[in-house]
Amino acid sequence: MKKSPLFVALAVCSLAGMALAQEREAPQRKGAETKLKEEVKLPKHGVAVLRPTRGSDARGIVLLEQRGDALHLRGRVAGLSPGKHGFHIHEFGDIRDPEGESAGGHFDPRGHKHGAPGDPEHHAGDLGNIEANEQGVAEFNIEVPWLKLHYVVGRGLVVHGEADDLQSQPSGDAGPRVALGVIGIAQPPEKRQTAR
Ligand code: CU
Ligand code: ZN
Repeated sequence: MKKSPLFVALAVCSLAGMALAQEREAPQRKGAETKLKEEVKLPKHGVAVLRPTRGSDARGIVLLEQRGDALHLRGRVAGLSPGKHGFHIHEFGDIRDPEGESAGGHFDPRGHKHGAPGDPEHHAGDLGNIEANEQGVAEFNIEVPWLKLHYVVGRGLVVHGEADDLQSQPSGDAGPRVALGVIGIAQPPEKRQTAR
């Protein structure tokens, strides 16, 4: 069907009108976004509840705290074999896979090699090892000067079945993932309703 010139003119006008209306709305919306950005504070306290993967008994709680420039991780993981266990922040807080594979590889925004936390080059998520005692309990307090809590909220925290050798690529040959949790924003200690 051939469209009349009047129809075409009307269509062009209404499109132009819509575009104008959008333009008028835009500055207001932009203002609201800027305001929200200013008001949302960066998180200071995080928590990861580590649950056993399939066939594992390892579980624990890790508290994360932003203190100045450094991120501190303090935690306790039980149900491990005695000795060292690789401990990393993995890219995704995706815990759908029962063996923890959906958490992806080590958090590595810079395309670095795997390494020890003290090495000149290592993944941002390389936290080295935690060490379990004869009862299979690891307690630790780690200071990570290169991380901020808001870089890692929503990502995965993983404990492995074996020691991270701190050099094998791409992930330190640390064996299966035995416990896995998602780093979330925690209630600040002074406001906590359910302290444990
Ligand atoms: Cu790992
Ligand atoms: Zn790594």
